[in-house]
Amino acid sequence: MAREQISKIAYKTLQQGKSIAGLAHKELSTRIMKLILPDEKTGDFNIDKKLLLDIQNSMDILREEDWNDAEKNIYPQKLLFDEPWLRYLTQYPKILLDMPNTWDRRRKKNYQDLPKNIDNENYPNYYLRNFHHQTDGYLSDFSASIYDLQVEILFNGSADAMRRRIIKPLKEGLNNFSNRKKSSIKILDVATGSGRTLKQLRGAFPKEKILGLDLSGSYLKEASRFISDLEGDLIELIKGNAEDLPFEDNSLQGISCVYLFHELPRKVRENVLNQFFRVLEPGGILVLADSIQIDDSPDFIQIMDNFHKSFHEPFYSDYIKDDINSKIEKVGFNNINSNSFFMTKVWSAVK
Ligand SMILES: C[S@@+](CC[C@H](N)C(=O)[O-])C[C@H]1O[C@@H](n2cnc3c(N)ncnc32)[C@H](O)[C@@H]1O
Repeated sequence: MAREQISKIAYKTLQQGKSIAGLAHKELSTRIMKLILPDEKTGDFNIDKKLLLDIQNSMDILREEDWNDAEKNIYPQKLLFDEPWLRYLTQYPKILLDMPNTWDRRRKKNYQDLPKNIDNENYPNYYLRNFHHQTDGYLSDFSASIYDLQVEILFNGSADAMRRRIIKPLKEGLNNFSNRKKSSIKILDVATGSGRTLKQLRGAFPKEKILGLDLSGSYLKEASRFISDLEGDLIELIKGNAEDLPFEDNSLQGISCVYLFHELPRKVRENVLNQFFRVLEPGGILVLADSIQIDDSPDFIQIMDNFHKSFHEPFYSDYIKDDINSKIEKVGFNNINSNSFFMTKVWSAVK
């Protein structure tokens, strides 16, 4: 019992430490920007006391939820303490040194500053841009090598705790196949990026077959390095488009998709949902996680507003108003549920 309490305190302290580190970076980058570019708009905004309290409460609830799910063995507790510190240490100086390039792109409204060697025909139009003013968009090894830590900083260290919110509904959904051998169950993580979600999934599903798909070869290479030493069977990585999934109809039992939808135009969101429905077997479970939306998180409108003003996120303001529940229902899913945790909303639905 005492050991459990110490672990819980350690977990909360770790999370609070990461949150402080995230805030410290934001303060540091604003100061550097004011020093180098005194006339630049900082993009910072005043957080009133109530909003600050709401943010803190919401993060506390997220941590409690994360702790409780681990305690119930929905996933192993070690995931809560699994921080790639060495990786962060190599990523941070790169992020600092790259900041002026990002500001320059933002100032010049240069959203298509992409590597010259890429073949545009391999990518949809909406994708060929510098999301978040990010150097090379999603299209270089450099971008992939700093992405993780950027997301950690954005969410004040709670990105993985939010990603883990997909696990409980996935597990519940996969109970529909509890009479099958676990190794025959296939779970696909769409837009898997640099592999953080795959690591959470492998922890929770040690025997199931896990696959990760993304449009970016560079991000998949980074994912491959990140997951290479995980226990359990090999995770398969596939370069492909969520709008045209390279899987047979009814061939998968679970699909997860984290932080993709806010970067898609409305029509593409519909196409992707249609694909999810097509490749899932009847009874299969879809779990989506993405930004919170206006209707169910009105207290955080200021944050959502700031996000799309400060970062290049051209489809975000449409996304936060989009009725995803109806879209999921329209393509044919049942048992649709949704729930918000800090900055992330999670939907689950059964085919
Ligand atoms: C914001 S990142 C999210 C990455 C990851 N899921 C995470 O939790 O950090 C969005 C990812 O979606 C990928 N992506 C965007 N459009 C895609 C598409 N049509 N098909 C597959 N991947 C796509 C990008 O390459 C990028 O890795």
